[in-house]
Amino acid sequence: MTYTADTSTSEATDPGADHAGPTPRAPVTDWATDFDHVDPGYAARAPEIWDELRQECPVARSERYGGTWLPVRHTDVCAIAKDTDTFSSNGVVVHDGRPEIPPPVGFAPPITSDPPFHRIAREFLLPAFAPKPIEAKRESTRETCRELLDDLLTGVEAGRTDIVDAALGYTQHIPVRVIADMLGVPRSDGDQFRVFIHRIMEQPGAELKVEYEDSIDFYLDKLIAERAEQPQDDLISHMTHATIAGQPLEHEHVRGTCALLIVAGVDTTWSAIGASLWHMAQHPADRRRWVEDPDVRPFAVEEFLRFYAPVTMARIVAEDAEFAGHSMRANDWVLLPFPAANRDPEAFEDAGEFVIDRMRNRHVAFGLGIHRCLGSNLARMELTVALEEWMARVPDFELADPEGVRWSTGQIRGPRELPVRILNSAATRISGENPVV
Ligand code: HEM
Repeated sequence: MTYTADTSTSEATDPGADHAGPTPRAPVTDWATDFDHVDPGYAARAPEIWDELRQECPVARSERYGGTWLPVRHTDVCAIAKDTDTFSSNGVVVHDGRPEIPPPVGFAPPITSDPPFHRIAREFLLPAFAPKPIEAKRESTRETCRELLDDLLTGVEAGRTDIVDAALGYTQHIPVRVIADMLGVPRSDGDQFRVFIHRIMEQPGAELKVEYEDSIDFYLDKLIAERAEQPQDDLISHMTHATIAGQPLEHEHVRGTCALLIVAGVDTTWSAIGASLWHMAQHPADRRRWVEDPDVRPFAVEEFLRFYAPVTMARIVAEDAEFAGHSMRANDWVLLPFPAANRDPEAFEDAGEFVIDRMRNRHVAFGLGIHRCLGSNLARMELTVALEEWMARVPDFELADPEGVRWSTGQIRGPRELPVRILNSAATRISGENPVV
């Protein structure tokens, strides 16, 4: 990455503007020919836009960001994800520039890597995310959720308020604490993680423009240097001392993968938990079913992932290509909206309905092909435990202010502010025990 102090563009160049929200861009005039995935209108009504585009295009085109495509059919999204020759992963977050580190390695291996390097970059991470080590984290994750709920519900249980923010007080902290423990960094660095994530995922290009001392690269360079000197039992040390064919990993590789784990491990899961609670707040029958029928919970978790899939990735067209009747130019961006594929009526019965006990549910929330999510075991465990603990403690709740719910913009979609009114947490208060898990 390069860092400049250039303040001449309209992009957020002032580090102090990190929390200011997305950079204003021209409003979208037509979703089929001028879409912008960071437009607030897209965050607000993406599923309707996908439905309209499926009828109208179904591969939308925009001149923004130097040329961007948006396929919305399940079949197109899957075909692009599988065709790694035509569609390179060298850039996965759309912005005005183009990636500086060339294929096949890219900025954040393995997600930005193409074959054959991709396999090497992915393989040495696999053991840490396999089912057994992730299962071993279930109880500590449960403990984290309980501690957060204790703090969040203090005011409610003392009778001072009946409104809490489920995103600010609960969902955003769970994946931060889990990934901080895995990387071996203090949990208190969570606020810093969220600043990096916000810049990388919600303000296209902003992370490239901050001063080095304020950047995620600086944060990670320091940690990697410390672990090189004094290895610990954590992922940063594992990567710092790993070898490929007898050679240590390049520093940029280690740093890029650490950055990836922070972004991929936090924003995604935080969004999935938040969207699930947003749904539960509005659907008393689904709340009741979850509480009364433990057997439905694994199906419910998959349906939350299908219906509220948070992650849209991107590809770069490697060379001029024809796709679904369109001429795509080398270096065009292609957004890969896995959430849109999950709502395609050609692929799912009653695709637009949330069916808590859906049996056939081969959703693509975790992507597909060689880049399929490496953290899916961890994500499923965190989502399940977070919901189990919330629903055990707060079986009845509703949106306190539907207009006050703030959704993220950009490629990861989920509620960032979620005020809810607690209707009943009495059972937990009286017995002090967990009544339904
Ligand atoms: C609900 C939560 C999550 C969702 C929906 C999700 C979704 C995805 C998707 C769609 C991809 C494919 C990207 C592509 O095709 O370009 C992906 C890749 C990846 N995810 Fe996740 N993810 C989640 C949680 C996590 C967690 C908790 C971690 C680990 C800390 C993680 C680590 C990764 C990594 C390392 C990759 C890159 C894999 C590769 O390129 O081989 N994800 N994720």
